[in-house]
Amino acid sequence: MIMEADAPLRETGADDDLVRLKVTVNGRRHEGEASKKLTILENIEKMQLPIRSSCRRGRCGSCRVRVLSGALRDNGVRLNGYVLSCSSYLEGDGDILLPY
Ligand code: FES
Repeated sequence: MIMEADAPLRETGADDDLVRLKVTVNGRRHEGEASKKLTILENIEKMQLPIRSSCRRGRCGSCRVRVLSGALRDNGVRLNGYVLSCSSYLEGDGDILLPY
């Protein structure tokens, strides 16, 4: 019998910045952990998925992704569910579609 006291200790707040991120690219669905401290672009790159980017400053639009679900904090324009991933951050679990 495993008692609760035997469970490994976890530092309080250590995982508070982690959320679940689902990404669909080329019709394939991927899922992993993402950090609220990184942009959506950085998180998708960290998952080693092929996301387009250029300026990384919210100007060119090449990093545009569609948000299927999820709370975001973004500095860019959100139009028809699309955001600029280089200037958008997750606030909770997210589901993202790359439009190519
Ligand atoms: S990489 Fe240019 S707007 Fe995001």
